[in-house]
Amino acid sequence: MSQTLLYVKANPKNDSDSNTFTLANVFIQEYQKKNSDCEIITLDLYTEGIQPLDADTLTKMFGGGGNKALDYAKQFASADKYVIAAPMWNLSIPAILKAYFDYVSYVGISFKYSEAGPIGLLSDKPRKAIHISSRGGMYSEGPAKEFDLGDKYIRTILGFFGITQVESLFLENANVLQGDALKEAINKSHQAARNMAVNF
Ligand SMILES: Cc1cc2nc3c(=O)[nH]c(=O)nc-3n(C[C@H](O)[C@H](O)[C@H](O)COP(=O)(O)O)c2cc1C
Repeated sequence: MSQTLLYVKANPKNDSDSNTFTLANVFIQEYQKKNSDCEIITLDLYTEGIQPLDADTLTKMFGGGGNKALDYAKQFASADKYVIAAPMWNLSIPAILKAYFDYVSYVGISFKYSEAGPIGLLSDKPRKAIHISSRGGMYSEGPAKEFDLGDKYIRTILGFFGITQVESLFLENANVLQGDALKEAINKSHQAARNMAVNF
């Protein structure tokens, strides 16, 4: 059976105005070249109009019955691969992506409770994820290394679901570098995207 890749987009900007989406699209295009049989499902969270969990959805999530969180959770669980494209916002992810994870974190779909504590349900097949993100500063090394709560959150919540093969691809210093130095950093990140896509 062919595989499914879920491309989750969390930025109100157009693709061409977003360093994150430009980088993610380089990755997706290269991936598609190597995996033409993989179905790519694009989920633009702003187009979807994702809202914070409301009382009605919350009641249904825990009380049973169909609801939009269940639909998103099932869609998430049916994928094999995940590309999560989100810029750094205030040391973390855009709130819309957190709202999406609040839908997808669904008891009985992505995790379950046990006497030993919660257990991720998405380790039932080999899954892989990549977090692609542009950020104004530098967080992969240096004094702000501890401040990147977004990548940490994404890795932790995916691990909670049982998805442990998680990669990260960053364009860093996007608001610090200028001119040729910025172009060079962008080109390097695009090359890294192509390299990483080959083995994804
Ligand atoms: C609301 C908002 C919050 C931001 N917070 C941070 C931050 O905490 N750290 C940082 O380095 N850059 C921050 N930035 C800068 C973006 O991460 C940076 O410009 C990035 O390249 C944007 O990617 P994009 O072109 O895909 O939107 C912020 C930008 C916005 C709009």
